[in-house]
Amino acid sequence: MRYIEFGANAAKVSEVILGMMRIANKTPEQVAELIQTALDCGINAVDTAPIYGPSEAIIGNAFAKTPGLRDRVWLQTKLGIRPHPRLSANYFDFSYEHIMESVDNSLRALQTDHIDSLLLHRPDALMEPDEIARAFQELHDAGKVLDFGVSNQNPAMMRRLAKHLPFPIQANQVQIAAAFTPMFDAFFNVNMQNDASVMRDGGILEYGAEHGMAIQAWSVLQHGYFGGVFLDNPDYEELNAALERIAADHGVTTTAVAINWVLRYPAKMQAIVGTTRPERIRQSAAACDWTMTREEWYEVYLSAGNKLP
Ligand SMILES: NC(=O)c1ccc[n+]([C@@H]2O[C@H](COP(=O)([O-])OP(=O)(O)OC[C@H]3O[C@@H](n4cnc5c(N)ncnc54)[C@H](OP(=O)(O)O)[C@@H]3O)[C@@H](O)[C@H]2O)c1
Repeated sequence: MRYIEFGANAAKVSEVILGMMRIANKTPEQVAELIQTALDCGINAVDTAPIYGPSEAIIGNAFAKTPGLRDRVWLQTKLGIRPHPRLSANYFDFSYEHIMESVDNSLRALQTDHIDSLLLHRPDALMEPDEIARAFQELHDAGKVLDFGVSNQNPAMMRRLAKHLPFPIQANQVQIAAAFTPMFDAFFNVNMQNDASVMRDGGILEYGAEHGMAIQAWSVLQHGYFGGVFLDNPDYEELNAALERIAADHGVTTTAVAINWVLRYPAKMQAIVGTTRPERIRQSAAACDWTMTREEWYEVYLSAGNKLP
């Protein structure tokens, strides 16, 4: 496993993170086994969120039933996505009151006294940076949260927030996968008159690299917006053939190749894997066994149906 230095205390955090969005039907014992499997492979980071149903509570029960487990993981949760009380939809809330309340609820559910990293989950159009800064400062002073970051934010949003925050933005969690590449498409097609040249993200990767923040990729095996897994998917035949070729060369699975591809961007990259199977956690950990060559990286990109100018 490879590690990055994260946050104010340069915590040693694995490049592969165990995502806990899909554990609603798992028992605390099963989740403790998943976390233990991850730790055995060197994965020491766990990601969750209050909006993932009972995820935080199940993790908290797993910690309670397994003495010492909490202290061995770096724990990240998020906040700000709330079910609307009258509509069957979510809305976003970065108000001081909600930040403070959400963290207390998370600490209770997770049965822990602190969160290692707290992310603002999805941008709230009504966010007021000074209000967020006040909440973060109080949470930090109380020892409840060690480091802070964002998710799904573009550089303009982060720049505005950073002006007010008392701490650096340590992470941005965004969707990146071999079959989901709008950020790379815009990168390659700068100033061209085609769809790929449309920059939708404002340069998230470049901003993250420039500011030394962790770029945490979510849904690294999915296509579209939760469109399903592209591995072994007949719609991605050429991509799978490329992944298989590279996997055979390195004695790993296509899962490891797909994750390695995401981690190859030259910044503080992390990949959050959402599997609920111990065997696939082990396969994911093998993503860090080698550094992908440029030829391999571009073979994956082109085989996913992309064109280069
Ligand atoms: N910040 C955000 O907005 C945001 C959004 C989404 C997710 N996230 C985070 O990112 C994490 C990962 O997201 P994700 O779960 O979408 O990622 P993912 O790892 O791309 O997808 C995991 C899903 O793919 C399945 N899978 C994995 N390998 C497979 C294979 N070889 N064949 C068929 N199915 C396979 C898994 O099933 P099995 O369980 O059966 O292996 C699981 O259902 C989440 O847990 C969450 O922490 C953040």
